Amino acid sequence: MNIIVIGFGFIGRGVIEAFLRKAERIRRLDEDFRVVGVSDSRGYVYDSEGLDLKRLIGVDELSQYPSGYCRGGSAEDLIEMEGVDLMVEATPTNVVDGEPGLTFMRRALRRGIHVVTSNKGPLVVAFHELKSLAEEGGCQLLFEGTVAGAIPIFSLVRESLQGDEILRISGILNGTTNYILSRMHFEGTSFEIALKEAQERGITERDPSYDVDGIDAACKVVILANALMNRDVRFEDVERTGIRRVTQEAVSLAKRSNFAIKLVGTIDRRIEVAPKLVPINHPLCVHGTLNAVHIEADLAGEITLVGYGAGRETVSAVLNDVLTVLKSEAKKKG
Ligand code: HSE
Repeated sequence: MNIIVIGFGFIGRGVIEAFLRKAERIRRLDEDFRVVGVSDSRGYVYDSEGLDLKRLIGVDELSQYPSGYCRGGSAEDLIEMEGVDLMVEATPTNVVDGEPGLTFMRRALRRGIHVVTSNKGPLVVAFHELKSLAEEGGCQLLFEGTVAGAIPIFSLVRESLQGDEILRISGILNGTTNYILSRMHFEGTSFEIALKEAQERGITERDPSYDVDGIDAACKVVILANALMNRDVRFEDVERTGIRRVTQEAVSLAKRSNFAIKLVGTIDRRIEVAPKLVPINHPLCVHGTLNAVHIEADLAGEITLVGYGAGRETVSAVLNDVLTVLKSEAKKKG
């Protein structure tokens, strides 16, 4: 298969590194696996025979790659290239209009190119439209990396709860706010210092108010509701309260009563993101940068998944989605 990677930031690079590291596993599924193009906002590199991934991860800028660089060339040019089978879309999230990722995804799906993404924006803005495009184009749209990073929530429901109806979901879906609240809970660290620490760990959004005000968590709630509960939820439908008004006194008071204050996203009759009191022994009560997703299904009952929701671990989700596509294509070929 011919792969293009759109976005050469933390995730784009991480995915290319993972392709290199897991080359043997990948080749077992597809001997002809090659990354033919990679783009960022300034241009792209392209080689129809496959790029040298070792060289690629060694460069700071795509322009330093020894051949095939097109300055000013765009992701759309790569999507239009002959024979592209799969696009990994890892441009920054824009929850206002989903761009530029939304345009790239529409275009790829219309051409019958499978899409794997870690970008929340396009899915928040146009989930059902993109799903329909994928169906019409006979291709897959996979997005495990968009919600709770490495936690395989979509794969779990798709593969292992095929007969279940998901009745309710609640989750700690933002690592930054969970880190801040955990530091306040265990060490009495001030909100400002804890936020600074989270930023140093590289898990915050570019504008940290997206974390603190619950915007990032609300986006994830929208994706979960639409993808797993067949709802038609828009960002505006989420009742949202962030953690700015959570005081140290409130955190300490909760702690004395064996609760922790957590920013919880809930999809039930109400769809909301808000600070909640969570019993300290509840499976959802995870600390630090961890995320947790708790689902209630009609047959399976309650299931909780815990793991890392941001940063390097997200690459695991993207790679798994790519392998899922490779596997189903291999099956088709017989
Ligand atoms: N800023 C996000 C978080 C990153 O803290 O969870 C993952 O979406």
